[in-house]
Amino acid sequence: MNEALSARLQFSSGCPERLAEAIRYVVLAPGKRLRPILTLLAARACGGEIDRAMPAACAVEFLHAYSLVHDDLPAMDDDDLRRGLLTCHKAFDEATAILVGDALQARAFEILATEVTPAPSAARACALLGHAAGASQLVGGQADDLAGVEAGCDLERLQAIHRRKTGAMILASLELGCCCAEGSEEQRQALVAFGERFGLVFQITDDLLDASGNPEVVGKRVGKDAQRGKLTYPALVGEEESRRQIEQLMREANESLACFGDVAAPLGYLAQALVNRDR
Ligand code: IPE
Ligand code: IPE
Ligand code: MG
Ligand code: MG
Ligand code: MG
Repeated sequence: MNEALSARLQFSSGCPERLAEAIRYVVLAPGKRLRPILTLLAARACGGEIDRAMPAACAVEFLHAYSLVHDDLPAMDDDDLRRGLLTCHKAFDEATAILVGDALQARAFEILATEVTPAPSAARACALLGHAAGASQLVGGQADDLAGVEAGCDLERLQAIHRRKTGAMILASLELGCCCAEGSEEQRQALVAFGERFGLVFQITDDLLDASGNPEVVGKRVGKDAQRGKLTYPALVGEEESRRQIEQLMREANESLACFGDVAAPLGYLAQALVNRDR
């Protein structure tokens, strides 16, 4: 995966060396690569070739990496550790971190537009990533996340935040895989049903890691959601109920994959491994 990501980070001479260095620092840091792997596994579940889905997998990771860089900025979560390394604005500077995000977002769409084939699939891929990353999904979720508990704290609001700030990109990763494989509408709907549930599970698990994860392993600061007054699952319903809801959602997520048969089994294993993750 790193090779495919790195190959798409060659910029022409107009890109200042320091900016290129910061972009590579962010993307090649040891992330879990969940979203690109979801794209590749979804493509395979739909009967497609891994290689054909690789550009979209890279695009989704670039978009995700940008969202992390901006999420960590002082005006947002104000974090100094990410993937076990200094956050981009700490390792470089704040203006560079903003520009790294801008460049990665643009690069994601450039890759989709130029590398996904046939052309109608490229257009569909751009549209679906644009929607997921936009004001009513990722960015809207981030805006409401920053408003914190003062803006209200019921389960409906919390789920709506998690679905947009995190779930939307997980869903888009799966749909991109289906799009590159030219999967059927039935396959797409099954992936959506899986992704909607797993996307929520993924952010609940992230909340649990912030509440009680091992700071040596997580690779980012823990305990900061409570400090910042974030609306999270463990804060709202407690850790035990959070875990119960994860189990219920995972049962439903796995049922959604049944129509694929064995070919989608790796998606189910991956999702379960991420529920059990410690970082
Ligand atoms: C972190 O995502 C941000 C959330 C949406 C919870 P990941 O936990 O996938 O981060 P990396 O890519 O492995 O660093
Ligand atoms: C992040 O949620 C969602 C994004 C869109 C990046 P968090 O703010 O909880 O993610 P971490 O814990 O900083 O990775
Ligand atoms: Mg955040
Ligand atoms: Mg954060
Ligand atoms: Mg978090």
